[in-house]
Amino acid sequence: MTKKKILFVCLGNICRSPAAEGIMKKFVAQNNLDNIIEVDSAGTMGYHTGEGADPRMKRHAKNRGYDLTSAARRFDPKKDFPNFDYIVTMDDQNFADINSLDNEKKFHNKIFKMASFCKNHDIAEVPDPYYEGSEGFEYVLDILEDGCGNLLNKIKNEIDK
Ligand code: 4NP
Repeated sequence: MTKKKILFVCLGNICRSPAAEGIMKKFVAQNNLDNIIEVDSAGTMGYHTGEGADPRMKRHAKNRGYDLTSAARRFDPKKDFPNFDYIVTMDDQNFADINSLDNEKKFHNKIFKMASFCKNHDIAEVPDPYYEGSEGFEYVLDILEDGCGNLLNKIKNEIDK
């Protein structure tokens, strides 16, 4: 079976997308789909490249049972567009930035907004928690659990077909 590959994308790759990666990896493991679904994350900017996730996000995620272990990297259009099946952006700016890197509009069918998978949150974007307090991080985790759960169900349906 061909693998399904998911890449979560935010601005810095230290708050929202590594949290989405950690949540989805846990959901994938709980569904025994590790051999079929691959999960990664990246940022549209390279400012934090090599850094672990923001300690505040790590702490809030850990309290819910998610280990955030990845190091930040910048989205690489040459490699990432062909490699991933679902490129899931967090906010409208990330979505616009990733689309603008897709010069020939070859990959636009792979580019999604995380909010589009949410069922329990009527939102257009996953807000940047970087300048927020604890509630901001908890809110982002609520949104990401909602979106990741539904995205995984969608992928499971596609695999079954
Ligand atoms: P993220 O949050 O995009 O969810 O990783 C941010 C992290 C760092 C910065 C902005 C947003 N920053 O400007 O350094």
